[in-house]
Amino acid sequence: MKKMTGSVKIAITRYMVLSIVLMLTVITESMAKTNTEKTGILLVSFGTSYAEAQVALDNIDEEVKKNFPEIEVRWAFTSNIIRRKLAKQGRHVDSPAEAIAKMGNDGFTKLAVQSLHIIPGVEYESLKKTVDAFNQIPKGVKQLALGKSLLYEHDNIKELCSKLERGFPTTRLDDAIVLMGHGTFHQSNIYYPGVQYYLWQLSTRYFMGTVEGYPNLDDVLFSLKKQKIKRIWLMPFMSVAGDHARNDMAGDDADSWKSILEAEGYEVKPLLKGLAEQDDIVNIWINHLKDALYELEN
Ligand code: CO
Repeated sequence: MKKMTGSVKIAITRYMVLSIVLMLTVITESMAKTNTEKTGILLVSFGTSYAEAQVALDNIDEEVKKNFPEIEVRWAFTSNIIRRKLAKQGRHVDSPAEAIAKMGNDGFTKLAVQSLHIIPGVEYESLKKTVDAFNQIPKGVKQLALGKSLLYEHDNIKELCSKLERGFPTTRLDDAIVLMGHGTFHQSNIYYPGVQYYLWQLSTRYFMGTVEGYPNLDDVLFSLKKQKIKRIWLMPFMSVAGDHARNDMAGDDADSWKSILEAEGYEVKPLLKGLAEQDDIVNIWINHLKDALYELEN
């Protein structure tokens, strides 16, 4: 080996030191990059103050965590009334805006906000406004994507109807199934007649009714009476079996659907099970969440 002069040695040492410094800079920079990107999931429901109805939301929580084990999941309720009721019981649940702001403070940079609403109605639109607003704010979470409600694309309606049928408790020809949806004055109420259309393709003994929109219970009765039905199974067409299901549908008051249908001479069997308690139905929301997470990556 050739003997090196002092100046060559210094030059080599300088070169090596420089390379090491450069390498370290590249490594720490790439580490910093992976550290600063943090994706989270925010599940947003209307909410429920019924402890018995919480099982449906717990089931969604479980299914989401099973599908996305690496991502932190948090919750928010859109209903102020329900959040106030829960606060009186000592349980704090964030509004969507509160939850998003907190997640920004906790270092989340990307957020998939999943709507757990049934239709894209008033609650969904208000959530969309919140998500759009946070997308404009330079501080906190940098990018948010909104996951669609259970029914959004046309195909969701058909898919839901065939999954609903799998969960129906009867196939007897003198039995009918009557679903109680919420219904709304919002134009997206049109999803409920849409559901009825596809349910009737499966069987004329399946009925979709709503509490606050159309079809209403009179519409259901009109079609029911044309057939030889003896027994009616009442089921909520809502994510949880909460207040409407327990009182307006299955309650003992004279104006509950159960009482009205009994007065019409039918045997009535209410089932208190929310849509979110059925895993294959929850899967429709999970697919919408997958789309939202995909949107964040691209
Ligand atoms: Co209501």
